[in-house]
Amino acid sequence: MLLKIPVFLFATSFNVVAASLNSQLHRRDLAATIAAERTIALQGALDNIGPNGAKAPGAYAGVVVASPSTDDPNYYYTWIRDSALTFKMLVDELLTGNTSIKPLIEDYVKSQAIIQTVSNPSGSLSSGRGLGEPKFYVNETRFNGPWGRPQRDGPALRAITLIAYTRWLLKNDGTAEAKADIWPVIRNDLNYVAQFWNQTGFDLWEEVSGSSFFTLAVQHRALVEGAAIAKQMGFSCAGCDSQSPNILCFLQSFWNGKHIVANINTAVQRTGIDSNTILGSIATFDPDAYCMDATFQPCSHRALANLKVYVDSFRDIYDINAGIPASSAVATGRYAEDIYFNGNPWYLCTLAVAEQLYGAIQQWLARHNLFITEVDLAFWQSIYPQAKIGQYNSGTSSFDNLTSAAMRFADGFVEIVDKYVPVSGSLSEQYSRENGTALSAHDLTWSYASYVTMAAARRAATTVLASAREPIQVPSWGERSANSVPSVCVASSVAGNYTPATGAGTLAGAGGCTVTVLFRVNATTYYGENIYLTGNTTDLGNWSPAEAVPGNAANYTSERPLWYFEIDLPASTAISYKYLRQESNGSWLYESQNRTYAVPVCGTQAETGSAIVEDAWVGPTGTPSKG
Ligand code: NOJ
Ligand code: NOJ
Repeated sequence: MLLKIPVFLFATSFNVVAASLNSQLHRRDLAATIAAERTIALQGALDNIGPNGAKAPGAYAGVVVASPSTDDPNYYYTWIRDSALTFKMLVDELLTGNTSIKPLIEDYVKSQAIIQTVSNPSGSLSSGRGLGEPKFYVNETRFNGPWGRPQRDGPALRAITLIAYTRWLLKNDGTAEAKADIWPVIRNDLNYVAQFWNQTGFDLWEEVSGSSFFTLAVQHRALVEGAAIAKQMGFSCAGCDSQSPNILCFLQSFWNGKHIVANINTAVQRTGIDSNTILGSIATFDPDAYCMDATFQPCSHRALANLKVYVDSFRDIYDINAGIPASSAVATGRYAEDIYFNGNPWYLCTLAVAEQLYGAIQQWLARHNLFITEVDLAFWQSIYPQAKIGQYNSGTSSFDNLTSAAMRFADGFVEIVDKYVPVSGSLSEQYSRENGTALSAHDLTWSYASYVTMAAARRAATTVLASAREPIQVPSWGERSANSVPSVCVASSVAGNYTPATGAGTLAGAGGCTVTVLFRVNATTYYGENIYLTGNTTDLGNWSPAEAVPGNAANYTSERPLWYFEIDLPASTAISYKYLRQESNGSWLYESQNRTYAVPVCGTQAETGSAIVEDAWVGPTGTPSKG
C-alpha cells in the first residue's frame, strides 16, 4: 500500500503535465482554426456589400445586403442594424491599420445619408420618425410591406459606428471630413435617440413590441459617445447630455435579480432570457470600464450571472447539446421559445457568448483583479467548482485559475461554432438543433461580422502586454464617465432637428419638410377585419392595397370604433385618399368615395389640432369571419 503512494503522485503530476500540454496544443489548433475562419468571414461580409461585392449584385455603393438569400427567407434587403454592426466591425479593422477599407466606409456613410432622407412607412426624416425604419431595398428605396416597425436600435448603432470612424478621422487628418460630412449624419441619429428612446418599438428580432434591453443599452452608449465627440469637434448635443442618464436609469429595470429581462412593457409572454442581453453587453463593451453592473459590462456580476442563465436555457432543448456537461459550452440561439425556422441555434448568438467572455477577460486583466459576489457565484462555480466569493488579484494562482477557466469556457463556444461550420467556411444564420447543419439565410453578413469581432476580442484577451493594447483593443466609449445611475428616473424627451446630410452626399432637395398628420376614422369592424388608408402618393401606396398604410386599433372601443394612422406627409401639398377594409379572408372592401386633404404648412404639429383629420367610414361593411 505504502509503495503505491509515490506512484500515484507521479501519475497525477504526469497527467497534469500531459493535460496542460494537450490544452496548449489544443489552444494552438484553435487559434489556427480561428485565423482561417476569420479570413473567410471578413471576405464573406465584404462580398455582401455593394457595389462590387461578389454576392451583392444590384446593391448600391456601401449598402450591406443582409444575406444573398432571395427566397425562404428573402433577406435581399438592407437592415440598418445589420449594416451598422457590420460596418462597426469594418471600422475596427480600419483602426488596426487596414486602410484599404476606407473607401468602402465612405460609401457606407453616403448610403446612410441618403437612406436617412427616404421617407418610409415609419415616417420621414423631417419628423425624425423615419429614422426608425428597420429595412430598405438594396437600391435605397422604401419597403412598404408589413413589418415590425419602428426599430429604434438602428440610429443608435449607426451613430456608434460613425463615431468610431470620426474618432479615427480626427486622428488621421480627417477633421474637415468628420465635421462637414459625417457629423450631420450622426447628429440626426443622436437627435432621434434623444427624442424617441422612451417610446416603445420592436426589438432586434423584429417580433416584440415594447422596451428592449439591447436597444436601450446601445442608445445609452450612443448618447454618451455622441456628447463627447460633439464637444471634441466644437459642436453640442444637448439631447445627449440630458437624456443619457435617463436611459441609464431606465436600463436598471431590466435586471430582475437573476438575469437581464430582454423586453419589458410588452404583451409577449416569455421568460425574457434572450441573447438580446448578451448582444447588448458586447455592443456596449468598454475595455477601460470597471465591472460595472449599472452598464452591464461583460465582466459585471449581473452580465455573468445572466450569461449562465442564458446558456443553460439551451442545454436541454437542442439535441446537439445532449450529453454536454453543465460546465461546458453548448450551442445557443436567440431564446428558448424561438420557433423561427423551428427555433435553432444561431452562429452569431453562440459567438456572442464567447465575445462577452473575451471582453470580460480583457477587463479583468486591465483591472488586475476580479471579484466574485453572490450574484455571479453560480456562474463561477459552474466553470471552476472551487470558486468562492472574494477578491482575486492578478499575480495570484487563483486569479490565473479563474481567468483560465473563463477562457476555456469561452473557447468552448467557438469550438461549437467551428464544429458546425460547413467545410467551405460559409456562415448561415442558423445551424440545426438536431444535427448542426446550416439552416435559414446563407452567408448571413451579421454572422460573418460576429466571427470577426469575436476573433478580435479573443486576440485582445490573449494579448497580456498592457502596453500593446492599442490598437488591439477596441477604443473606450467613455463608460467610466457615464455609469452613475440617477436616483430618480425621468422619462423625458428632447425634440430634435433633422436635416439632410448633404455634405455626405445625399441628394439636393431630398428629405423635405413633412407634417405628421393624424387620421382618425370611426369604422366598426368585425374580429379579423382591418382598416387601411391609401391614396394618390407614394406615402399612401398609390392606391394599391398591398402598399396601403395599416391602421392602429389600439384605442378602439365599443363606444368609439376608432382606427388611427399617423402619417408624415409633405407640407403644403394636397392629397386624395380613402380607407380600405381588409376582410379576414384577405379580400378588400373600398370606401365608396375619394377624400381630399390639404396638408398644412411646414411646422404644424398635430397637438395643435390642425393636423388631425376626423372621418367616419363610408362604404360597405364586412362579414363576420367564421369560427
Ligand atoms: C420572424 C423572425 O423571427 C424575425 O426575426 C424575422 O426578421 C422575420 N420573421 C422576417 O424574416
Ligand atoms: C432576422 C433577425 O431577427 C434580425 O435581427 C435581422 O436584422 C434580420 N434577420 C436580417 O438579418
